[in-house]
Amino acid sequence: MFKSFSILWLLSASALADPVNTYLPVPSQAVGPPLNAAGYRVESYGKGAYMVTNNQYQAMFFVSDKGVIVVDAPPTIGYNLLYAIGNITDQPITHQVYSHSHTDHIGGSGILPSGVKRIAHYLTKVYLEDTPDANRPLPDEIFADAYTLTVGNQTLELKYEGHNHHPGNIFIYAPVQKVLILIDIIFPGWVPYSALGATENVAGYIKAHDQALAYDFDVIVTGHLTRSGNRKDVEISKAYVLDLEQTCTEAYQIAASPGNNISAQAIAAATLAVNPNNPYTALKAILTAMAEYCGNKTNGKFQDVIAGTDVYGFENAFKMTDSLRIELDAGGPFAVKGP
Ligand SMILES: *[C@@H]1O[C@H](CO)[C@@H](O)[C@H](O)[C@H]1NC(C)=O
Ligand SMILES: *[C@@H]1O[C@H](CO)[C@@H](O)[C@H](O)[C@H]1NC(C)=O
Ligand SMILES: *[C@@H]1O[C@H](CO)[C@@H](O)[C@H](O)[C@H]1NC(C)=O
Ligand SMILES: *[C@@H]1O[C@H](CO)[C@@H](O)[C@H](O)[C@H]1NC(C)=O
Ligand SMILES: [Zn+2]
Repeated sequence: MFKSFSILWLLSASALADPVNTYLPVPSQAVGPPLNAAGYRVESYGKGAYMVTNNQYQAMFFVSDKGVIVVDAPPTIGYNLLYAIGNITDQPITHQVYSHSHTDHIGGSGILPSGVKRIAHYLTKVYLEDTPDANRPLPDEIFADAYTLTVGNQTLELKYEGHNHHPGNIFIYAPVQKVLILIDIIFPGWVPYSALGATENVAGYIKAHDQALAYDFDVIVTGHLTRSGNRKDVEISKAYVLDLEQTCTEAYQIAASPGNNISAQAIAAATLAVNPNNPYTALKAILTAMAEYCGNKTNGKFQDVIAGTDVYGFENAFKMTDSLRIELDAGGPFAVKGP
C-alpha cells in the first residue's frame, strides 16, 4: 500500500514537470562576481571605460568630457544601464554604438534619451530595416569598413572584419584603455553558447579569434556571462574551436569508411529500413553520430578548462559537423561520387 502510493506520487510528479537535467558543477573561475542590490555590477577599465553586467549580458559606456558613448543596450540590463551611468557621471548620453543587430544585445536602446546619435555597420541597418522595432532605433551613421568615433576625450575605433556570428558584427576598440569589444564570439570561462554562439559563418567565426588577437588589448568584453575576458580566454576559445574542427573532420574520414560505429552507409541503411522514403532521417542520424563522436572527444579535453561543455558541447559539434558539410566541404560521406 505504502509502496504503491509512493510510485503513484512519482508518476504524478513526473507528469507535472519536464525532467530537470543535472550538469557538471560550475568551476569557481566561471562563477561571476556578485551583483549589487539592484541586480547589476559595474567594472572600470580606467580613463572613463566601464562595463555593466547582470552576469548574463554585458554593455559598455565611455565617459568623455563632452558626453557619454554607450555600446549596446541589452534589454535584460534595461534601466540598470542608465542607473550605472547616472551613478558615475552627470554627462549626458550623446552617442551609442551597435555591435550588431540582435535584439538580445541592443533591444534596450529605446530607453536611451532622444537625440542620441547611433553608429553601426551598414548591414546592421539593413537587418533593422527588415524588422522595424522601436526598441532598436535605426542608426544615424553607418560605415562599411572602418569608422573612428571621437567624442571629447574618448576615441573608439570601429572595424568590420568580415562575417562571423552575424553579418554586420563589428570589432570596437578603445586604444587608450586597450579594451576590445567583440560580441558573441568568445565566452570567457565557458564553452561557446549553442551552435558556436549561434554563428552564421563558421569560417568567419574561427577567423575572428586571430583577428581579435591582432589587437593590442588587455581586456576583451564579449557580451555574455559572468566576466570580461583576457588574451588567455581568446586563446582557449581558439583552441576549443580548432580542436572541434579537427575532431569533426576526423569524424568525416571515419564515417566515409565501412565497418565502424559511425559508418555513414550503415547508419543510412539501418535508418532508412525503418523510415522508408525519408531521407531526412538518414542525414540526421549520420550527422548526429559524427557530432557525438567529435563532441565527446573535444569535450573530454576541455571539460576541466571551461564550463558548460556538457551543456552545449554537442550543439557546437553538430554546428561544426554540418558546417563542414555545407560550408567547408569536408567531403567524407558527402564527397563527389563516381565515376
Ligand atoms: C575623459 O574625461 C573624463 C571626464 O573628465 C575622464 O573621467 C576620463 O578619464 C577621460 N578619459 C580619457 C581617455 O582621457
Ligand atoms: C543609482 O543607482 C541606483 C540603483 O543602483 C538607482 O536607483 C539610481 O536611480 C541611480 N542614480 C542615478 C542618478 O542614476
Ligand atoms: C563508437 O566506438 C568508439 C570506440 O570504439 C566508442 O568510444 C564510442 O563510444 C562508440 N560510439 C557509439 C555511438 O557507439
Ligand atoms: C557522447 O555524446 C552524447 C551526446 O552529447 C552523450 O549522450 C553520450 O553520453 C556521450 N558518450 C560518451 C561516451 O561520452
Ligand atoms: Zn548576436
